[in-house]
Amino acid sequence: MDARPIGVFDSGTGGLTVLHECLVTMPHEDFVYLGDHARLPYGPRPLEEVRTYALEIGGFLERQEVKLVLVACNTATSAALPQLQEALSIPVVGVIQPEAHAAVQATRNRKIGLLATKATVEAGRYAEFVATLDAGAELTALPCPRLVPLIEGDEPFGTETIDAVREYAEPLKGAGVDTVILGCTHYPLIRPVFQRVFGRGVTLVFSAEETAREVAGTLARKRIENDEAREGSYRFLTTGDPEAFRSLGQRFLQLPIAEVEHVELAKLGRAA
Ligand code: DGL
Repeated sequence: MDARPIGVFDSGTGGLTVLHECLVTMPHEDFVYLGDHARLPYGPRPLEEVRTYALEIGGFLERQEVKLVLVACNTATSAALPQLQEALSIPVVGVIQPEAHAAVQATRNRKIGLLATKATVEAGRYAEFVATLDAGAELTALPCPRLVPLIEGDEPFGTETIDAVREYAEPLKGAGVDTVILGCTHYPLIRPVFQRVFGRGVTLVFSAEETAREVAGTLARKRIENDEAREGSYRFLTTGDPEAFRSLGQRFLQLPIAEVEHVELAKLGRAA
């Protein structure tokens, strides 16, 4: 048994969709979630810059004595998963491998689509994982820079969002994909929009459920689970404005958010 919390981080509130699944799958575990709002969004930034941020946050969480770090951000996973695994002494789980695995299993015609941020598409990690699992599968990847700001905006289900999804779906439909990876933590929020545009014949793959299963499996294999009889707690940190996190965050978490603590950026890089 291991009573230490699990550390989770994202560029902002998007990773709360992954935390949601973790809280449902592992209600007996404690979680500490850090949103790097001061530097949101990660998606349009160069991979190297995102890697530096991810390594700072990973180190910070390790110093908070977490037992596992979950990178609940597709962009940060794309930019820094191996580097985090090298740098930290605790297990690090990302959101890409579980999704790639689910997509390869789901596809019948071996044509898979990927919608994600610019950095995630550029990094090419999904293509690598898909090829490792099925070298004959075809991946059509498309960056969707308009979606994150629209989903975080006042009208996530407004006509602009619908138009953007239609536009981004077109090349994937043209490629004949039967499975689409929604490779960004924000996209589950507008799942019905994607499903309607692609139709029921296309399987949508999200990171949240697959990743929560991967975290639970890692804890079990390493025998570092908490006592299943207890009810876990969860707390929040942000490098940005705590009140803004709280109000937007509930939409993503779909569970109550009580206190949100502010962390100075300068503190992330420090070894104390
Ligand atoms: N959380 C990021 C991701 O999953 C999207 C938001 C951002 O661009 O920072 O890729």
